[in-house]
Amino acid sequence: MSTAKKDYKKITTKSLVDMKANGEKIAMLTAYDFTMAKILDHAGIDVLLVGDSASNVIAGHETTLPITLNDMIYHASAVVRACERALIVVDMPFGSYQSDAKEALRSAIRIMKESGGHAVKLEGGKEIKDSIKLILKAGIPVMGHLGLTPQSIYKFGTYTVRAKEEQEAEKLLADAKLLENLGCFAIVLEKVPAKLAQQVAESLTIPIIGIGAGGGVDGQVLVTHDMLGMTHEFSPRFLRRYLHLYDDMSNAFIKYIEDVKSEDFPNENEQY
Ligand code: KIV
Repeated sequence: MSTAKKDYKKITTKSLVDMKANGEKIAMLTAYDFTMAKILDHAGIDVLLVGDSASNVIAGHETTLPITLNDMIYHASAVVRACERALIVVDMPFGSYQSDAKEALRSAIRIMKESGGHAVKLEGGKEIKDSIKLILKAGIPVMGHLGLTPQSIYKFGTYTVRAKEEQEAEKLLADAKLLENLGCFAIVLEKVPAKLAQQVAESLTIPIIGIGAGGGVDGQVLVTHDMLGMTHEFSPRFLRRYLHLYDDMSNAFIKYIEDVKSEDFPNENEQY
């Protein structure tokens, strides 16, 4: 399998399917605001997910359930304004697509029209197939999300690894095939055994993007605030921290406070 990277000027849903076919791994991270999205886009990230994890890392909620459709559109439109290259996928928040397919379509249309995002992501398989079908029929690209689906946390009761048992693994594989057959362009697979994730990736032609799903899939996604070490109370095994910004930022803030109190800041050169 070739690892040669093609130079994509702008990432589309088709580029991702091409990357999988060419053996090039897909790099995806979350973004919720203009400044972070600009840095990520310039660094060459392939996909930016405006995740409903904004509910946790931006708004401080315990789960992803409280975030609203208006909140998601607000975050997504800031990310869209920052990007030239990345494909921007927007999470459909809890409550915006579960009740019926027509409501799901209305919510997806609002996201596309009001934020300028390029695709939507929904959590679930067979149980939401009518919604996915209708959204796709309207010409809106859909990314699936299987395995640990945080919007169903009160059903699972825990954030532990999913699909360890054969029955759940079989359902996950069947759901992944269904999503591909419906026309989804990619699927996020969260916190499932690496062997199962690899089996799903090998059975499908659309890319499988993993989070806590091992290296045998077609791409990886992390929550940006976690990989930067801005959040430090969350430490799952799958998380690689590239920086320790919680400590670095705390030290900068402490130094600033000291400088203001001691009248070291501002100095002669920092005033008019
Ligand atoms: O909302 C989010 O950040 C996500 C990722 C964990 C995939 O859905």
